[in-house]
Amino acid sequence: MTRKTSLTEPVTVSPADPGVATGGGPIPVVDLAPYLRGEPGALDVTADAIRTALESIGFYVIVNHGVASSLIESTFAEAARFHAQPLEAKMQLAMNDHNNGYMAINRYMVTTSGVSENTKPDLNEAFFSKRERSADHPGLLAGRRFVGHNQWPDLPGFRESVCEYTDTLDVLALRMLPVIATALELPPDYFAPYFDDSQFSFRMSHYPPARAEENQFGIAPHTDANFMTFVAQTSVAGLEVRLPEGEWVPVPYIENSFAVNSGDMMYRWTNGRFKSTPHRVRVPEGATRYAIPYFLGPNLDAVIECLPTCVSAGAGFPPISYEAYLNWWYDANYDASKQTT
Ligand SMILES: [Fe+2]
Repeated sequence: MTRKTSLTEPVTVSPADPGVATGGGPIPVVDLAPYLRGEPGALDVTADAIRTALESIGFYVIVNHGVASSLIESTFAEAARFHAQPLEAKMQLAMNDHNNGYMAINRYMVTTSGVSENTKPDLNEAFFSKRERSADHPGLLAGRRFVGHNQWPDLPGFRESVCEYTDTLDVLALRMLPVIATALELPPDYFAPYFDDSQFSFRMSHYPPARAEENQFGIAPHTDANFMTFVAQTSVAGLEVRLPEGEWVPVPYIENSFAVNSGDMMYRWTNGRFKSTPHRVRVPEGATRYAIPYFLGPNLDAVIECLPTCVSAGAGFPPISYEAYLNWWYDANYDASKQTT
């Protein structure tokens, strides 16, 4: 399979000011075009915007990101095609211990949330895949958790389409690492060695129209376990973010944009300086909603310990490998043994 190595030329979505746009209410909108085009000074301007976003809210929206809108649309269509299959076909791919495959509705509840007591299962079904590894990958040969084979449906072209999307998001995510490093007053290439076999997870969620009970959601309040999450925006509302004051606000819908949030690995690496912000998804009222979040994490062996520029932030987490964190998080939230019954 050919791997994508570049983004498309960013097409200007709006006549925004170079580097930073506004219009997202409390959630900043960042225009990536100047940075992706390599314009002088754009890295620093973009990093300043990201630093402000991650120190204050932990959430932002990116426009002019270089991912073709046709690819985003076709990936949403693949999500709809997957979930339109009969339940029996989807259950053939029941989620395994690697968190790959299909999770039926009512099988998942976030229990690691520090922001709310979640007592009802989430009202979405989902398909998960990870990076495709070659047959001779050492982790695959060793049967290492989270490296295992993906479980693909019997849908012509599905695997190729999904991999084209995740390859492209890989490129975008890696282009963001120098921005994050610069925002943290580190050399732009600081994070590169931690992400050369990055552990991403890709999720295709389906939220059918449903009536939620009290304290029940499409996805209940939680923070993400990974480093950065890229959510292609959809016009069907639902994603909400908790502001530092505790108020929940919707992420503003901007056509052809990604909502980006940092996760627990960003929070721990920066000693709490960059937020891992609670968010949730409301059950769509009278509508069907699909979501295609791409969750970027570092290499499984990466040890997450306080960055030299974040010592004074003071949260004081002990070092932990990404693999150890994932083992705890997935065991707590996704019990593979419950997926086949
Ligand atoms: Fe999330």
